Amino acid sequence: MKIETAAIHIGQEHDPHTHAVIPPIYATSTFAQIEPGITKGYDYTRSGNPNFSNLEKTLAAIEEAQYATVFGSGMAAITAILSTLKQGDLILAEENIYGCTYRILDKVFSKFGLKVEYFDFSNPGNYRYIAAKLPALVWIESPTNPLLKIIDIKAISDVAQKTGSTLIVDNTFASSYLQKPINLGADISISSTTKYINGHSDCLGGVVLTNHEVWHEKIIFAQKAVGLNPSPFDSWLISRGVKTLAVRMEQHCNNAMKFANFLESLPLVKFVRYPFLESHPQYDVAKQQMTGGSGIVTAILDLSLEQTKKMISAFTYFTLAESLGGIESLVCHPASMTHASIPKEGREKVGISDGLIRFSVGIEHCDDLIDDFEKALATMSIQK
Ligand SMILES: Cc1ncc(COP(=O)(O)O)c(C=O)c1O
Repeated sequence: MKIETAAIHIGQEHDPHTHAVIPPIYATSTFAQIEPGITKGYDYTRSGNPNFSNLEKTLAAIEEAQYATVFGSGMAAITAILSTLKQGDLILAEENIYGCTYRILDKVFSKFGLKVEYFDFSNPGNYRYIAAKLPALVWIESPTNPLLKIIDIKAISDVAQKTGSTLIVDNTFASSYLQKPINLGADISISSTTKYINGHSDCLGGVVLTNHEVWHEKIIFAQKAVGLNPSPFDSWLISRGVKTLAVRMEQHCNNAMKFANFLESLPLVKFVRYPFLESHPQYDVAKQQMTGGSGIVTAILDLSLEQTKKMISAFTYFTLAESLGGIESLVCHPASMTHASIPKEGREKVGISDGLIRFSVGIEHCDDLIDDFEKALATMSIQK
């Protein structure tokens, strides 16, 4: 079954009692037991609910993974994985990971004795540290947030596998439609389903996917023991949103490609990054492991910091907001928003300069988005 069909039909079975075409929302915290300990598969919503099971079936199917476990947010999914580690365990992480992933490692789990070292894993020369340090986990994102670096998932997974390290890939920026990390060799693929998977910016969610039964059991345990579950309503919303993933992603990719080309043509723009632009340093790897460039474009304009901030507040269709992956376009300033939790020195070391802007290109008509950019520039009386 193709992904377009799986997203609509798997985990979306008609309600067995009423034949309602759309499965209902099971807004319940608990389930009646037939006899003590004998249930119809669910006992308490923290450890399971039909809306979670429905969504898990869909998400496993569309990413071609055996197991999926859903969470209340992307950060809850990340917490579930980290909670399986023990004092002294080492994580080697890509140096350009999402600001809040950095923060939970640096400010929360380091207190419990987890050790983290950061490397630029877009440079295969740095894979040697995996072989030398034998970490418990190798943690990457591809594309990374916000610099859109591409890590060669197949190549890094070969190294991690040989050393017995577990490779975690945060697939949020690509989505299951454009990239399947487990098929490329990752042990675990996680996503913030808040983003492309739901696609409508109306709830939070996260998922952990794996083919390893042992990892699946650990992750289910974390869901209920740490209390990281989503709500039935949010799971239902994500089940609804994911049905249109394929058509949305096609339009995100088309629009973002056009928008990136437009930005690249402007003398005012000093730097543009988009995985499917030939100027991207890992363009070949992106083409190998992704079927589209996704919807995020980053750029640095030849403006002062003050002018940059003023300009990104002047758009009509690009709303100035955190998050990404919704049908509506958003713009953000990573240094003062999504990545503010990383100290300035650390941000600059990995390339998140104060001038960097991140566009989440939505599915509006691209001409209107380009027009929006031009009008915002015009309000500042700046020559293109
Ligand atoms: C790459 C990446 N991973 C994880 C998260 C966390 O997801 P959530 O906001 O759903 O907790 C985000 C959020 O922006 C993200 O961009």
